[in-house]
Amino acid sequence: MDMQRIPAREGNHNLQNYEDVRKNFSWDNVKRNFSWDKTGKVNIAYEALDRHAENPDKKDKVALIYSAPDREENITFNELSKRSNQFANVLKKYNVKKGDRIFLFLPRSPEFYAAFFGILKIGAIAGPLFEAFMEQAVRDRLQDSEAKILITTPDLLGRVPQEDLPDLEKIILVGEHQETGDQYIDYTKEMENASSEFSIEWVDLEDGMLIHYTSGSTGKPKGVYHVHNAMIQQYQTGEWVLDLKQDDVYWCTADPGWVTGTSYGIFAPWLHGVTNVIRGGRFTPDDWYKTLQDKEVSVWYTAPTALRMLVSNGDDLVKQYDLSSLRHIMSVGEPLNPEVVTWGLKAFNLRIHDTWWMTETGAQLIVNLPSEEIRPGSMGKPIPGIEATIVDNEGNEIPPNQMGNLAIKAGWPAMMRAVWNNPSKYESYFINGWYVSGDSAYRDEDGYFWFQGRLDDVINTSGERVGPFEVESKLIEHPAVAEAGVIGKPHPERGEIIKAFITLNTGYVESPELLEDIRQFVKTGLSAHAAPRELEVRDSIPKTRSGKIMRRLLKSWELGLPTGDTSTLEE
Ligand code: PRX
Repeated sequence: MDMQRIPAREGNHNLQNYEDVRKNFSWDNVKRNFSWDKTGKVNIAYEALDRHAENPDKKDKVALIYSAPDREENITFNELSKRSNQFANVLKKYNVKKGDRIFLFLPRSPEFYAAFFGILKIGAIAGPLFEAFMEQAVRDRLQDSEAKILITTPDLLGRVPQEDLPDLEKIILVGEHQETGDQYIDYTKEMENASSEFSIEWVDLEDGMLIHYTSGSTGKPKGVYHVHNAMIQQYQTGEWVLDLKQDDVYWCTADPGWVTGTSYGIFAPWLHGVTNVIRGGRFTPDDWYKTLQDKEVSVWYTAPTALRMLVSNGDDLVKQYDLSSLRHIMSVGEPLNPEVVTWGLKAFNLRIHDTWWMTETGAQLIVNLPSEEIRPGSMGKPIPGIEATIVDNEGNEIPPNQMGNLAIKAGWPAMMRAVWNNPSKYESYFINGWYVSGDSAYRDEDGYFWFQGRLDDVINTSGERVGPFEVESKLIEHPAVAEAGVIGKPHPERGEIIKAFITLNTGYVESPELLEDIRQFVKTGLSAHAAPRELEVRDSIPKTRSGKIMRRLLKSWELGLPTGDTSTLEE
């Protein structure tokens, strides 16, 4: 076998003839799979849950296999539909209206999914927050979105700075608590008293559904706004890329605080009525294999950082498990190393299919399909209905094999429709009708795309996007820190780690204790994944004459690379 090419998988795949389908495909035809094509009435929660709950052949099918160290639960489509109706009724009682922002700050749990669909059913906009966020991250997101209600646990409540959140009317607490203020609502009590009948709010395809905050290289995180129309592409990629069949058991390892955990951890499988595994708690390599084995997972969507962890745990471990149910593996979020693909062939006897997309794109765009050959190291080709290219800084297409900015012809179904409260940021993504991703890449003569890196300073650590500005801002809040510059430093397992360069205020002396204290300050104030793994004290931080931190220069120094143009460097 040519190591550079892994031939198409044998067997019957949902998308068998890529080139033919590509020629004739129209997104309009996908509508036929949804009941709203006949009724004219739309709600993604109806298509993902209620439609199956109303179907006598589907209602008792398990929708959710929940598995955590201390809890196991199987929930049918009918049951999940009812629980989300109850939650929608709770929201109604507290005067939630279409378009309100309702945020979830919860661990992965059955309550999360019931609440999430309850929010959608009333026509409100859901904002899921990653449970590892600390106070600053929570504050930024709830303030910017002007969230009206937050659903959280008593454990996480301490990270919610209520005094800074004038728009927040109520907090729904999941789990036993002692809070007495009338801003608090008890989840269990309210759910017990709520009817399991709810007449769903029918909305327009272009009405808001979801906000995911994500980091850029400057400023605070941005609220990427998605609408119900995204279901068209989430459904279609579920068919082609996830290759879902009715008897599949599907597992997406992403948390719903990130876009993979909603588009592919919730919508794609359930729009198809497929059984979905949700694993709560933290993972170890043993847990991963055990979940695949015990739940008889057949389709698995995960990330390079997890796969690299499995690789580093060796081949003996994987041999201890029976993974014979597994038939299809995909990866997203970071470059998938060719060595990992090669390891996958050996360990699972399966190809690992890389997929490329972003929070802003709402669904997969460039992928490796089961029916196409894989070129390890390549993200694959655009799905039918998507036009991708490489552009220069002016938005002009450039020929194959030349590096440039990866761009997508604007207007695909799941594309973000706004950046919340920030129209100019939204506009800045587009040039000449292209959505410009900020990823550098090239395409080869056969149309395969190859990722090269980010064109801005955004850091990708273990598949999570971190904005250097947020980390720098937090660092300089520490009394010892005068200035800070933050970069991503290549790391074999995590892709990149966060490295911070700081200067100290007078009166402070560098010591291991001080550096650890600064690290902990970011970890407990912002979030664990944003805490710098490396901290270096310097006499000064390089800045431009206008005061911008020259992260590029810091990075070149760190990696021993040529420093390029430094004419704007201040004296
Ligand atoms: O740099 C690309 C990288 O992750 C970025 C998007 O991050 P986020 O919005 O958090 O979404 C991640 C999951 C959808 C991209 O700009 N990225 C994503 N997929 C890949 C990737 N880099 C290389 N290969 C991929 N397959």
